[in-house]
Amino acid sequence: MGFFYDLPRDVCNQKGYFMPTKRAAKIIDGKKVSEAILAELKLEIEGLKARGITPGLAVVLVGEDPGSQIYVRNKRRTCAEIGMASFAYDLPKETPEKKLLDLIAKLNADPKVHGILVQSPLPKQIDEQKVLNALDPNKDVDGFHPVNKGKLLNGEDCFVACTPAGCQELLLRYGYDPAGKHVVIVGRSNIVGKPVAALLMQKAKGANATVTVCHSRTKNLPAVTKTADILIAAIGVPEFVKARMVKDGVVVIDVGMNRVPDATKKSGSRLCGDVDFKGVSKKARAITPVPGGVGPMTIAMLMKNTVLAAKRRGK
Ligand code: GUN
Repeated sequence: MGFFYDLPRDVCNQKGYFMPTKRAAKIIDGKKVSEAILAELKLEIEGLKARGITPGLAVVLVGEDPGSQIYVRNKRRTCAEIGMASFAYDLPKETPEKKLLDLIAKLNADPKVHGILVQSPLPKQIDEQKVLNALDPNKDVDGFHPVNKGKLLNGEDCFVACTPAGCQELLLRYGYDPAGKHVVIVGRSNIVGKPVAALLMQKAKGANATVTVCHSRTKNLPAVTKTADILIAAIGVPEFVKARMVKDGVVVIDVGMNRVPDATKKSGSRLCGDVDFKGVSKKARAITPVPGGVGPMTIAMLMKNTVLAAKRRGK
């Protein structure tokens, strides 16, 4: 199955022989797309503010996980950049579950707060699902509350988890409509694998894909990934997807964000995705880089969901 709108343009060589071109993969630039979305949201927020509504996002961080600290800092900074109010709650890693649940109840009741995000992972004394269940589904801009997850599966209007929504948005903005395509997802996490499968299999615009979800127990995984028209890698293993595991012309969305040792870098490490970018980009039609692919889209979708929450309440 090819993407008919994106066939290689064959050329003649100097002797006039017909030469099929081997083009480099198109880079799906999540940074550029996210900047465009954030610019649109900034204008929308100005309009809402003129009507007396300032969208507000509460971002809750428990503990000092370095990765989570970076994510949370980026989310708060983006709120400020687009004129959204952000409410920061940094709790120590020993915080008892009850204290976090009390904070959620307070935020649920606060009219200035339109969206609530509790950064995961949470320390082990806290039951993450219990915390998610305590969120007001109308403020669950992460799309992790069971009500929103159930509605997504049902094809009802809901808050869609930000990373899956970002993957879909990137595919659509670059003209790779998943309709009728075989989408293979590597990874079955609650945050990405499961919701992106639910999203892309819907009978809806921007979806209608045939979806296969692979995971650690999948037998002969390369045989499955090789059949993908669109491959979404979200397994959390650095450079897991190799060139031999994909077919020519695949569109690759790399959700991974891993830090690996690299002696050639001053810092001694580098960021990489779940896809061996160098190898796979030689075969792919299009591919997201890491960083600069899905990561910025997750934040843009979070902002979009928060503006949506504010507009819904404003009505
Ligand atoms: N941890 C990793 N990704 C996410 C995310 O999208 N939302 C939250 N709340 N925590 C995360």
